[in-house]
Amino acid sequence: MRILSGIQPSGAVHLGNYFGMMRPAIALQEQGEAFYFIADYHSMTSLFNAPERLTNTMGVALDFLACGLDPARAVFFRQSDVPEVTELTWLLSTVTPMGLLERCHSYKDKVAKGIAPSHGLFAYPVLMAADILIYDSNIVPVGRDQKQHVEVTRDIAGKFNELYGDTFIIPEPRIQEDVAVVPGTDGKKMSKSYNNTIDVFGDEKTVLKKIKSIVMDSRSPAEPKPDADQNIALQLLKLVAPADTAQDVEDRLRAGGLGYGDLKKTLFEHCWEFFAPAREKRAALARNLDGVRDVLAQGAAKARPLARSVLDRARKACGLV
Ligand code: TRP
Repeated sequence: MRILSGIQPSGAVHLGNYFGMMRPAIALQEQGEAFYFIADYHSMTSLFNAPERLTNTMGVALDFLACGLDPARAVFFRQSDVPEVTELTWLLSTVTPMGLLERCHSYKDKVAKGIAPSHGLFAYPVLMAADILIYDSNIVPVGRDQKQHVEVTRDIAGKFNELYGDTFIIPEPRIQEDVAVVPGTDGKKMSKSYNNTIDVFGDEKTVLKKIKSIVMDSRSPAEPKPDADQNIALQLLKLVAPADTAQDVEDRLRAGGLGYGDLKKTLFEHCWEFFAPAREKRAALARNLDGVRDVLAQGAAKARPLARSVLDRARKACGLV
């Protein structure tokens, strides 16, 4: 079983990325042959700063390796190190109905957010289809927001197979339903676009400041809080603290007597400790960026021959060779 997913290189990872996407993806490396790549070609649809792209790409690589992605188990590489994927994008785009892309929410959302509507942004799902199909992927773990893109991929693969004969494996999306929705400091889903994030690898002062900014109500410490499970800081604490610690804090909040300042202090301490091993590992990796570049190069060396063979199969199917 081949598992494949792409990660946009879009800056610092926050708790929402970690618990919603990174941790489940890293856990999947035990369950099959995992291919994970950094989607730097995709980042070109919304980021036009070259040094920033390179910095973000290395940043995501450090984040994933620090959080436990094991390059001995998973093939970890940079999308653009396998340029074959862009040729497959062209082959696929010729069988992709306009209407299929016109229906994509993510394009409309991005344009509504102010991203310039380019052809690349519109064709983003075709590149994503090529990413998936070029590795004969069976399972694509993605967040709910990307499910439509995997469905588009299935449609494109089906269309190509219908026109040119069986060429591509039809992949299945795997939506991480059971994964915690991580609330941001304002209680909405944690997301960079809401500016409510707490970074995994932020410095101590900044993380503490963010945690202190978590929205609370104005009830006094003594007042019992029967609705403790709605408390944002407690919800976050449940992710980073041992279960009995979180339960104890919840009980004290319910009973009354635990102030929000102390609650946030506890959250900070556990958050800081939870990521301590990853933080140390990241610092060590960052001291040897050539080592990280090597990991990505070795990943690409494994991914590229497979991509070549699937591309050749597709070229043959449609009469290019
Ligand atoms: N579009 C995905 C996102 O924004 C990233 C991505 C690119 C991807 N190619 C992919 C995910 C292929 C899964 C499979 O999160």
